[in-house]
Amino acid sequence: MTNPNRFLRIGLTTLFLGVTLILVAVLMSHQSTPSLAQEGTEEATPEPEDGGDGGVTAVPDPNSEDIVERGAYLVRVAGACQDCHYGGGDFNAVYEDPLNIDLSGGFAFAYQPWGTVYAPNLTTLGEWTDEQIENAIRYGVRPDGAALLPPMPYELYAGMSDDDMAAVIAYLRSLEPVENAIPQAELDGKIREDIRTVPELDPEAEFPALDFSDPLTRGTYLATHVSACLRCHGSLAEDGVSVDPEAPALGEVPQYTDFGEFTFPSLAQSELSDWSDEEIKTLIHDGIKPNGEPVFFMPFYAFANLTDSDVDALIAWVRSQP
Ligand code: HEC
Ligand code: HEC
Repeated sequence: MTNPNRFLRIGLTTLFLGVTLILVAVLMSHQSTPSLAQEGTEEATPEPEDGGDGGVTAVPDPNSEDIVERGAYLVRVAGACQDCHYGGGDFNAVYEDPLNIDLSGGFAFAYQPWGTVYAPNLTTLGEWTDEQIENAIRYGVRPDGAALLPPMPYELYAGMSDDDMAAVIAYLRSLEPVENAIPQAELDGKIREDIRTVPELDPEAEFPALDFSDPLTRGTYLATHVSACLRCHGSLAEDGVSVDPEAPALGEVPQYTDFGEFTFPSLAQSELSDWSDEEIKTLIHDGIKPNGEPVFFMPFYAFANLTDSDVDALIAWVRSQP
């Protein structure tokens, strides 16, 4: 990810490997509850998980009748929005409680070629209309008409279905407001539109839900428009700023950090020929690599609560890459 904190984390991890192993062990015991609960029974509703702080938070069900719960699945599990919008400044807290960590933002995306952009507070959108929230997520346009900047992957969320968008908005509205003033972006004297063009908005555009009985259709939808796997594993669009939603996952999106620019792995089949589907599943779902090492940077802590069928769908998508 574009997140220099994580480099710090890698550094710390190297120094304090023991601590990390304990953390991973704690995480695994924490996260094994929902997956075990699903074993054997196809699509069983996951058992409630202790959310800490006295509250009990169930793993959200993507097929719930409750739109807020469906939104929680999209934001907290499949979408991993907390990966960037987490509040409180301590990324380890995201690992510890991905379902409850507040989404009040504040993380600084420094070292981007366009300057420093801060992750906004998603708990205080109460004054925005649904359409304004949708325009931000789908088109990267703020209520004042200004362009949002990457790494917010609006270009990928652009294809989210109307139903899922409504659920995401309902969930964001349900969040308890957390006060956290977010600094203005620092763009070196440039305005946002110097960096990226705002698309023409079509309020009539419709995004019907797809037929998800085919795992590859579901997997491609999730990987592109919800989980945004392409923000890390994809390629840049022609504008040189946003991610190309159509391009295969060849690992060509530059990630900017204080360690310089680099890329994440390609998911081309030639790179994955040694991996079994089970190993890919363990990586996505548990954050463990075939050699037993923990995965860095990938939001597996969120994907850990994916339903089995969504993990299978994502594997079908990975296997469909050239
Ligand atoms: C890779 C990091 C990243 C991810 C993942 C991400 N965002 Fe963002 N988001 C940002 C950044 C950074 C901005 C602000 C960009 C700017 O200031 O131009 C932003 C802006 C927004 C805004 C506009 C809010 C405001 O006050 O301007 C909304 C709404 C939003 N994101 C919702 C979401 C949702 C919902 C998800 C998950 C489905 C998500 N984001 C995932 C980084 C991310
Ligand atoms: C925030 C960036 C990020 C996102 C989002 C992300 N990944 Fe990854 N992924 C990585 C990184 C980094 C690695 C290598 C991790 C390591 O080696 O520790 C990786 C590794 C992988 C691998 C193993 C390939 C290899 O050679 O190591 C697969 C398969 C994979 N990701 C699939 C996915 C899928 C499917 C999604 C979406 C559901 C996804 N990733 C979302 C960053 C990301």
